[in-house]
Amino acid sequence: MSKKITKICCIGAGYVGGPTMAVIAQKCPDVKVTVVDINEKRIAAWNDEDLGKLPVYEPGLDKVVEEARGRNLFFSTEVDKAIDEAEMIFISVNTPTKTYGKGKGMAADLKFIELCARQIARVAKDDKIVVEKSTLPVRTAQALKSILHNTGSSPAGKEGGVQFDILSNPEFLAEGTAVEDLHAPDRVLIGGDNPEAIQALVDVYAHWVPAANILTTNVWSSELSKLTANAFLAQRVSSINALSELCEKTGADVNEVARAIGTDSRIGPKFLKASVGFGGSCFQKDILNLVYIAKSYGLHEVADYWEQVILMNDHQKRRFADNIVTTLYNTVSGKKIAFLGWAFKKDTNDTRESAAIHVADYLLNEQAEIVVYDPKVTEEQIYADLDYLNTRDEKENRKLVTVVNDPYKATDEAHAIAVLTEWDEFRAYDWQRIYDLMLKPSFVFDGRAVLDREKLKNFGFEIYIIGVGS
Ligand code: NAD
Ligand code: UGA
Repeated sequence: MSKKITKICCIGAGYVGGPTMAVIAQKCPDVKVTVVDINEKRIAAWNDEDLGKLPVYEPGLDKVVEEARGRNLFFSTEVDKAIDEAEMIFISVNTPTKTYGKGKGMAADLKFIELCARQIARVAKDDKIVVEKSTLPVRTAQALKSILHNTGSSPAGKEGGVQFDILSNPEFLAEGTAVEDLHAPDRVLIGGDNPEAIQALVDVYAHWVPAANILTTNVWSSELSKLTANAFLAQRVSSINALSELCEKTGADVNEVARAIGTDSRIGPKFLKASVGFGGSCFQKDILNLVYIAKSYGLHEVADYWEQVILMNDHQKRRFADNIVTTLYNTVSGKKIAFLGWAFKKDTNDTRESAAIHVADYLLNEQAEIVVYDPKVTEEQIYADLDYLNTRDEKENRKLVTVVNDPYKATDEAHAIAVLTEWDEFRAYDWQRIYDLMLKPSFVFDGRAVLDREKLKNFGFEIYIIGVGS
């Protein structure tokens, strides 16, 4: 008989910790779920009465939070208290690429994970199941075990020592569809070596996930499967993006090619949408991490193979920006370019590693003036993204980039429009009005292949669509 879990704590109230725990609380009313974070502002936002102010924008999330918050879902900054109370502790903190020292620019920075482990070891007075929810390099559980079992006031193995079981339970949700993905996951993956601990976590998910969709493996397979899944997904995007360039040269249409190959059941139709390049907080970081791990085992061919996915993505972003400059008569200096979209994909306010940031940076180096409209991303975030690159000073970024909350204002007197995110609303705009507002010739560079080429051509636009040859 596995232990029945009645109290869960999750360290990290971000894009994963928040929605994941909200759904666990919604589906398991008999379990008290406390999500903790050191970021007070974030926790205050999770507790905000106005559900429009939740720190993560996800369709349907407000309803889930509304149902469970205050009943069995709590957001708090009292990390020690939540750890102490819980029988099961999820670690869902950020694991960014290292920006210093050994493995700089490639390896995952595990300092936040280690801090959590040390805090759990210090606080825990009774046995705990510790669950890796963050995406981690394969074999991290070993490091966690070593920290948990050798630090703290009553180290495991010593008399009265606390026992820790470590499980790997990577998260596969995609932003923008997080609630849907959590409600009906393709699979839940649980890796571990103690069957009782595994069963305790299986029982939590079994509240709503069919048994056939809950996979259990050894802990290393689970950790590595997460990096592998992201590498395969990103590799499909880079593969279709590589072909998009060839389509443009040959008169083929990448959307037709994608449809043609996607109907082969061995290939499948998903993740074949050519774009200005994938973004998001994880694809790049996780592949770099995979490359680093392969290199550290001396597997250079393996490392080079996966690194190519990133190189192709960088190329795609650069060539999109470069094409804007070339088409606008080799200079964008002093020209107004309207950006439609800043988020890394639709239906999220997340901008981490968004292609828009890099395209903007390239065009700003060419002295363009950029006006951005995104339905969900704030002005503050857009400036923060540009400042973070450190390419030019903050004053310059604010001088060259304007953020507006009306797409028609963005396109007024613009030389060109660049579509960087596939927000649905872009299709529904009054494109005749936009054409009338813009300078002539009016160029549109659709980096998401969302616009109707023939319709826009009829209005008089000069239109370029990623992956579509003329
Ligand atoms: P995030 O940056 O949105 O959230 C992480 C949170 O952890 C932050 O709010 C931070 O303040 C908090 N934190 C850090 N150290 C802490 C500590 N010691 N104590 C308490 N709180 C602490 O990150 P995220 O997007 O939620 O990603 C978390 C993990 O999940 C990463 O490993 C990521 O690779 C993985 N992941 C992310 C996604 C996604 O869609 N974003 C999907 C699957 C997996
Ligand atoms: C991705 C994975 O899909 C999730 O399974 C995973 O849990 C998550 O990473 C993670 O580990 O963080 P996410 O980054 O939220 O999810 O979003 P995706 O839908 O995968 O899109 C990633 C990027 O690829 C976006 O910029 C998107 O526009 C781009 N993309 C995606 C394409 O350009 N073409 C496609 O066909 C699909």
